[in-house]
Amino acid sequence: MHFRSAVLLGVLLATVATADKKCKCLPGDSCFPSQAEWDAFSKGLSQPLISNQKPFASVCYNTSSDFDATECARRTAVQLDQESLIDAGNTVQLINFQDQLFSNGTVAQCPFGPQPGAVCDQGRVPVYSINATNVEDIEKTVAFASQHNLHLVIRNTGHELLGRAFGVGSVELFVHSMKQSNFSDSFVPTNAPSSTAGQHAVTLQPGVQWGEIYDLADQHDRLIVGGFSVGGTVGAAGGWPVGGGQSIISPFYGLGVDNVLQYTVVLPNATHVAANEFTNPDIFWALRGGGAPSFGVVTSTTYKTHDNIPFTGAFYAASANSSESFLKLMTLWAQSHNEIADAGWGGLWPYFSNQLYLTLASPGNPPTNPAALTAIQTFFNASAQVEGVNVSLTMTVPYRSFQQLVFENLGDTSKGHGLNYSNFHVSGSRAYLSSWLLPREATAPENAETLAKALASVPAGTPYLNGGGAVANVSGDATAVTPAWRNSIADMTIIFSFNETTNATDYANAKNAVHSQIEPFRQIAPVPQGGQYLNEGDVSEPDWQQAHWGANYERLLKIKQEIDPDDLLIVYHGVNSEAWDDEIVCKTV
Ligand SMILES: Cc1cc2nc3c(=O)[nH]c(=O)nc-3n(C[C@H](O)[C@H](O)[C@H](O)COP(=O)(O)OP(=O)(O)OC[C@H]3O[C@@H](n4cnc5c(N)ncnc54)[C@H](O)[C@@H]3O)c2cc1C
Ligand SMILES: *[C@@H]1O[C@H](CO)[C@@H](O)[C@H](O)[C@H]1NC(C)=O
Ligand SMILES: *[C@@H]1O[C@H](CO)[C@@H](O)[C@H](O)[C@H]1NC(C)=O
Ligand SMILES: *[C@@H]1O[C@H](CO)[C@@H](O)[C@H](O)[C@H]1NC(C)=O
Ligand SMILES: *[C@@H]1O[C@H](CO)[C@@H](O)[C@H](O)[C@H]1NC(C)=O
Ligand SMILES: *[C@@H]1O[C@H](CO)[C@@H](O)[C@H](O)[C@H]1NC(C)=O
Ligand SMILES: *[C@@H]1O[C@H](CO)[C@@H](O)[C@H](O)[C@H]1NC(C)=O
Ligand SMILES: *[C@@H]1O[C@H](CO)[C@@H](O)[C@H](O)[C@H]1NC(C)=O
Ligand SMILES: *[C@@H]1O[C@H](CO)[C@@H](O)[C@H](O)[C@H]1NC(C)=O
Ligand SMILES: *[C@@H]1O[C@H](CO)[C@@H](O)[C@H](O)[C@H]1NC(C)=O
Ligand SMILES: *[C@@H]1O[C@H](CO)[C@@H](O)[C@H](O)[C@H]1NC(C)=O
Ligand SMILES: *[C@@H]1O[C@H](CO)[C@@H](O)[C@H](O)[C@H]1NC(C)=O
Ligand SMILES: *[C@@H]1O[C@H](CO)[C@@H](O)[C@H](O)[C@H]1NC(C)=O
Repeated sequence: MHFRSAVLLGVLLATVATADKKCKCLPGDSCFPSQAEWDAFSKGLSQPLISNQKPFASVCYNTSSDFDATECARRTAVQLDQESLIDAGNTVQLINFQDQLFSNGTVAQCPFGPQPGAVCDQGRVPVYSINATNVEDIEKTVAFASQHNLHLVIRNTGHELLGRAFGVGSVELFVHSMKQSNFSDSFVPTNAPSSTAGQHAVTLQPGVQWGEIYDLADQHDRLIVGGFSVGGTVGAAGGWPVGGGQSIISPFYGLGVDNVLQYTVVLPNATHVAANEFTNPDIFWALRGGGAPSFGVVTSTTYKTHDNIPFTGAFYAASANSSESFLKLMTLWAQSHNEIADAGWGGLWPYFSNQLYLTLASPGNPPTNPAALTAIQTFFNASAQVEGVNVSLTMTVPYRSFQQLVFENLGDTSKGHGLNYSNFHVSGSRAYLSSWLLPREATAPENAETLAKALASVPAGTPYLNGGGAVANVSGDATAVTPAWRNSIADMTIIFSFNETTNATDYANAKNAVHSQIEPFRQIAPVPQGGQYLNEGDVSEPDWQQAHWGANYERLLKIKQEIDPDDLLIVYHGVNSEAWDDEIVCKTV
């Protein structure tokens, strides 16, 4: 009798264990933690557990239990405000990533401005959220999620462009409340040999954002290499470094990953470790480009800091009166591109509607590279001679620091020049992005016509001049980013925005649009010469392993399988996600 029960129990357990491995435990499943288990877990957290989390706009639905007209008015007013969306754990920057696509052709969502009686759909918004304020919260959450086989997602600022900060039936680990930073003049990595010299560094918790740390670094009279986005809202120490981290000053200081001295991270087995070149070097390597959160939850990132030197900005605006003239302008730009890069400029060159803008930065005032000013002025002058081209702005501007250049053009933009980036932010709207890394050969003068045609075939693009120089100075296998980065000189990025819709075909069309618009660049520089910047990835990229990591994928896969054998931290198109469905709910093989 007892024996039989034990056998039955054994069979039962084996069945559950197999089921557990095949699918994540979602709310409603019998394997999902009971209320008592959640209660016990929540007692150990520093902040109240958020349960029954609903989408940001649910308060506007009279069919929702949290319907609240006053709160609805407040949220409606801030629905496009980046910081409001970041601080709220129940929404992301591009709201198409909180919608869920059904195979019957419909999209489940919860937009603002509902009709009375409409139903707010949960979509991919996590039902439970843990508002972590310390490392212990993260360790406990990872252990609990692992024990119960939960669909755990990590959400920092929610800028994620492959939709991985949210997930169907998921439990959210919200890390954005962790905002400490520490500057040091003599940082020595954990477990470094005693002879290791200290260096200038800053240690950031994951919630710190670029705009904040640029200001603090400037106050400490240091320079930190980071992102260039409207309002400076991208996180400085979560998804950005782990995805590679591109900066307009990367040509002079390297990628984000080239500036990381150490991470601290909670591994999938809930152990908190330091990873640097001396201790856990494989994990350190994987965290420099392998993609977050595949290799654990980062609890801090330590970056080198540099001397806070002045910069020179260069700004340009021109418009062509026909597509033929625009093609000539872009051909001239493509002919000049590498010479301008080699003369010491980094930056970006957005174009749309037959207009070209340049926002460039060069170290030093005047630029330390003696060729810088002549190179840019030669282009300014020559472009004014192109028939049908009206050059409306050419200027160089001295800046006390990189922080000042960024702040005046992306923060308080009233002092900005050229393209006004404030008018181009996409927070709270729907869009997909794609990117393609262009090797030096693609932007070489002899290929200028081919490149210009590809550029002009896309209605709008935001290429970054962010490679060469210090980026090219690092070997392809030194970090986990695709080796294509090391021969890249520019990163062509495109965005395709679309309107609110519940028709899944519109979503598919938008994905196809970005994917086909980047295709000409993929053809100019196929893998392994070209590749895709992981943080600006294309959700429809079929060959994502090669596009994102190239020859480094094999080593990443090995490390991933070793440290996450139970697939706790698998994400869409992340390392070792091949066996899972797109929503990372069940294994398909
Ligand atoms: C408007 C806009 C502008 C951008 N501009 C730039 C730019 O100038 N340069 C550039 O390089 N990129 C840029 N990006 C892309 C941006 O770098 C990536 O989206 C990046 O992954 C954001 O990281 P996050 O931590 O801020 O955001 P999140 O969306 O919260 O996180 C991104 C990913 O990292 C994971 N993650 C977050 N925190 C952790 C953690 N602590 N541990 C483990 N995993 C974690 C998340 O699960 C998610 O998969 C931009 C994106 C947007 C939407
Ligand atoms: C929502 O409002 C509509 C229109 O006023 C009304 O018909 C409906 O009964 C309301 N629903 C709920 C759940 O209150
Ligand atoms: C998370 O906790 C912090 C600290 O208590 C608090 O300021 C913040 O509002 C909380 N965030 C959410 C989304 O609950
Ligand atoms: C589409 O499928 C989803 C999930 O099965 C369901 O909730 C929804 O009601 C369906 N929509 C239509 C219009 O049939
Ligand atoms: C910053 O330094 C203080 C004091 O040494 C330490 O207590 C704290 O944990 C550090 N914070 C980070 C994010 O490293
Ligand atoms: C550009 O044109 C200006 C004005 O004609 C001239 O002074 C300058 O020397 C030119 N610069 C270069 C590099 O051609
Ligand atoms: C564009 O400008 C050129 C030079 O001024 C002029 O010859 C041409 O007719 C214009 N073309 C159009 C389409 O306006
Ligand atoms: C050139 O562009 C500027 C700024 O847009 C505009 O004011 C000016 O009229 C244009 N000149 C010509 C000749 O089109
Ligand atoms: C850029 O746009 C923002 C927001 O519209 C505005 O506040 C700022 O003054 C503009 N900058 C310039 C230089 O016109
Ligand atoms: C490349 O690395 C070498 C050796 O570390 C260094 O001297 C040189 O300045 C670097 N070049 C760039 C462009 O960073
Ligand atoms: C989106 O909506 C706006 C305003 O209603 C409209 O002007 C635009 O054409 C729409 N775009 C698409 C792609 O449907
Ligand atoms: C979605 O839009 C497409 C194309 O406009 C149309 O053919 C299809 O019937 C629509 N599907 C639904 C469910 O409305
Ligand atoms: C956790 O995983 C790491 C990396 O695989 C391993 O070194 C460590 O021993 C593990 N810790 C425990 C407690 O299992």
